[in-house]
Amino acid sequence: MLQHTLLADYIQQKLPQQHSGALYHRLFHCIAEAIREGIMLPKSKLPASRDLALQLSVSRNTVLNAYQQLEAQGYIQGFTGRGTWVSEQIPDNYLNAKAHVVQQVPVAAVSHHRLSQRAQQFIGNVNHRPIQWGAFVPGVPDVTEFPHQLFNKIQARIGQVPDTASLIYSHHGGNAELKRSLCEYLQVARSVRCDVNQIIITEGTHQSIDLLSRALCDVGDSVWIEDPGYWVIRNILTMNGLVVHAQPVDEQGICPKADAPKPKLIFVTPSHQYPLGAHLSLKRRRELLDLARQQQAFIVEDDYDSEFRFSGAPFPSLQGLEEAAPVIYLGTFSKTIYPGLRVSYMVVPKHLAPHLKLMLDELHRSGHQLTQRALAKFIDAGHYVAHIRRMRVLYRKRRQYLIELIERYLGAEMIHPFSLEAGLHLVLKLPMHVDDQKIAEQAYHAGIKVKALSLYYSPQHPAPERGLLLGFASVPEPEMLQAFYRLRQCLAEHSHNN
Ligand SMILES: Cc1ncc(COP(=O)(O)O)c(C=O)c1O
Repeated sequence: MLQHTLLADYIQQKLPQQHSGALYHRLFHCIAEAIREGIMLPKSKLPASRDLALQLSVSRNTVLNAYQQLEAQGYIQGFTGRGTWVSEQIPDNYLNAKAHVVQQVPVAAVSHHRLSQRAQQFIGNVNHRPIQWGAFVPGVPDVTEFPHQLFNKIQARIGQVPDTASLIYSHHGGNAELKRSLCEYLQVARSVRCDVNQIIITEGTHQSIDLLSRALCDVGDSVWIEDPGYWVIRNILTMNGLVVHAQPVDEQGICPKADAPKPKLIFVTPSHQYPLGAHLSLKRRRELLDLARQQQAFIVEDDYDSEFRFSGAPFPSLQGLEEAAPVIYLGTFSKTIYPGLRVSYMVVPKHLAPHLKLMLDELHRSGHQLTQRALAKFIDAGHYVAHIRRMRVLYRKRRQYLIELIERYLGAEMIHPFSLEAGLHLVLKLPMHVDDQKIAEQAYHAGIKVKALSLYYSPQHPAPERGLLLGFASVPEPEMLQAFYRLRQCLAEHSHNN
């Protein structure tokens, strides 16, 4: 019955977009689209005409006429006494929903010939999908909402007669104008304690982590990450020969085990624990800072999406809690602007800055100075903060819509309680007996991109929780409803078959 209510919601949203023709004809188009999109799967039962008419507040005849037309075109079949069902075989030319599903090359199919041991291990742990766009890819902002024209104009102005310094390799940790703009922004918006010399621009958080782990650790050193945590960090650190110890998290954030080996680096996401969403409490912040000092470790604060908190002001950074805290702060424009920009930054302790800059120059020979200069102008003119403010409003609405869908069709208790504060995704809790990776795979083949929560846990022990990460920021409400419907069907099919 829930599926039927969801179909009615889908039709109610689609119907106003069908401008011409009789009502039954428009209804026909909506249902046909739901079938083509895979929202109504082959062999699934349609609601009785009387029920659908009631839900849509239209006459029963309107629904009967629409059903007749659907049957004439082969979309559905009616059986006396058994109701109306979506046909098993929808004509090929009607189907388009799955055309955009990109096939990923299975890891096993990659030839390991001549790859190093660590590369083979690394490739075996790769989890990302080639196209990270569409419902419900976690953590992706709505890249279409960025004021591209405005930014392009700034870039064009700078690029018309570029100075030579902008066209050669960048050095000293990136463009000076951007470092200055960021320094001001971070002090005000994120309570970071820094001067401009402590800022280093990189081409993504992955690069920052790679550089830090090579600069501050030797092969065989121990490092801590959160469990669950961003699996890429684990992969980069392992690739660099470090021994990764995953530390549990609870509703107050990371909660290190008493017997964990002394770490060189402690990777945390204090504002919004990734992926569950807890905020690192003040007590834990102080404890972690004390522990890092005692153990002569650096905390690496990955502040990836803290700008997006929807109730109250963003939490201040851990780095700014104390003067000269043993913290390296990481930020990125991937969530506030768009991931393809590949601009991110670190705020590092003063004594480390010259060494890290030198290493960055030698290892990576960075560039993109014109983009960095344009970004500086964009920030200085107030456009960056204005864009974040506008996105916060948009994402709050989308998030609320997703919460309502979950509450209405799956139950409020399925939203992970840690994930209610902030960020660009929600975590849907699933029962422990459910195979969340299998569901994510099935959903992918139905055109829905979700990530299984168990993937984020350390592979050294069975994941203590199952669930799905649902990104909402880049999904407008009508698309979200369709996608949610398909996901709901995958969940129903999975529980039916298991
Ligand atoms: C926790 C976390 N940190 C960092 C990043 C990546 O940032 P960047 O695009 O700057 O490499 C991501 C990307 O999704 C993330 O989830």
